[in-house]
Amino acid sequence: MTESPFLRNPYVPGKPVSPLLFIGHGNEIETAFDQILSRGHLAIWGGSGIGKTSFLEMIAAPQTWTFRAQDPTKAVIVLLSCLGVSPFNAANFWREVFLLLKEALTDEPEIQKEVEDYLDRQTASKDNLRSILRLLGKREKFLLLLIDDYDVALQPNPSYTEQDAANFLSDCRNLASHAKESQYLASIVTSLRRLNEAGIKLKPGESPWYNHYLFQPLKPFNETDAAALLGGLPLTPALKDGIRDIADGSPALLQVAGYLLFREFRANRLPDPDAFAAEFQRATEHYFEDNWNFSSETEQTLLMLLALTHLKGRLLKKRYDLGDTDVIFSQKERELRDLEERGVVIYQVKEGKKQYRFASSLMEWWVIKEIENSDEEALQARQRTFLNLMSRRQAETVTSAIRWLWQNKEEVPPILAWLGKITSALSIGFM
Ligand SMILES: Nc1ncnc2c1ncn2[C@@H]1O[C@H](COP(=O)(O)OP(=O)(O)OP(=O)(O)O)[C@@H](O)[C@H]1O
Ligand SMILES: [Mg+2]
Repeated sequence: MTESPFLRNPYVPGKPVSPLLFIGHGNEIETAFDQILSRGHLAIWGGSGIGKTSFLEMIAAPQTWTFRAQDPTKAVIVLLSCLGVSPFNAANFWREVFLLLKEALTDEPEIQKEVEDYLDRQTASKDNLRSILRLLGKREKFLLLLIDDYDVALQPNPSYTEQDAANFLSDCRNLASHAKESQYLASIVTSLRRLNEAGIKLKPGESPWYNHYLFQPLKPFNETDAAALLGGLPLTPALKDGIRDIADGSPALLQVAGYLLFREFRANRLPDPDAFAAEFQRATEHYFEDNWNFSSETEQTLLMLLALTHLKGRLLKKRYDLGDTDVIFSQKERELRDLEERGVVIYQVKEGKKQYRFASSLMEWWVIKEIENSDEEALQARQRTFLNLMSRRQAETVTSAIRWLWQNKEEVPPILAWLGKITSALSIGFM
């Protein structure tokens, strides 16, 4: 093969994918349109890198509407990320909405002028948005709010108290379901966790601020979608297997793997396993970190148990005992299902029993590093969670296993052992 420098790398690691290259999620898009067309509200949640931002951009693209015989000009679309509202508070949020609304209203100069006046008078607010919605309604249009990273709105910060957050969320709910103008508004929000599990606790007797949403998880790719994403590469069966081992159905991890492999393929080079491992790790670390940080204490403990169980199999000799972890896993089905929906773990049924493992072998390595880097104080802080999950004796067994790991770090195999499948496949190269 001759080198072909003009072949563009079609993979976009770390960037939302363009609607033209968007793969899968057909059912979720249909659900989104059902909600939009009935002026409803949808809450999408999914793990880090599962494709939430790409999904919103797909919904905002005119061709997605025309493909469904819908007129995109009926919707005035405002897409924003709460991460971009800094510091997050209600005033800054509504101001950002009005700024984007102004840009989106080039076809409606009169309404655009109204929006501009509110901005000039610094009165961009939920109440004034109601007047804008009425004006849109008169033109037989509606506002579609696409709000990314809604987790931020659920977390207090120095300029946003818990009470501010409660007020903001209840304002949004009133706007969406009680105001007369709600017939001219549809919205989709995305978050890393289900809204009822993320941030802001309800006070007794308070009706939930998230009642008006239809909930929809954005799940990892199935095999067909994962294969479609890698379709442009001449992969050997061993390489396909190796990629599944490190990325499973995570669009983010697949994009990184695809990008690195395509680069080598285009240059007609045999991929270097060490360089691949180092680059893959560097480009994906933050997804693992987010998945860890956005897990509850119970989920983190389950991930630690899972990693320690598998590490045992990777050590040369059996060095510690964890007791019967299957009992613990079988009692925490709900948490494990949640981790599965977020693309962190997957399960297989073996001999009639559900067996969990990490979706990415690198996430498993990452959790082992997290355990290695923790200390006695952190371990003590986890004891309560341990005791909620297991007997005192078993908690002691797990605690000893963790202490063993601290003292025997050199026995933990290097990262390449976790990437074993892909590294051996890489040295054979492409089809
Ligand atoms: N449907 C898709 N088809 C192809 N690639 C996708 C798809 N969805 C996401 N990706 C790719 O996966 C990566 C992560 O996507 P995206 O940023 O949309 O995820 P996210 O859930 O918003 O991540 P984060 O939690 O970091 O905000 C990007 O590289 C993107 O190109
Ligand atoms: Mg995102």
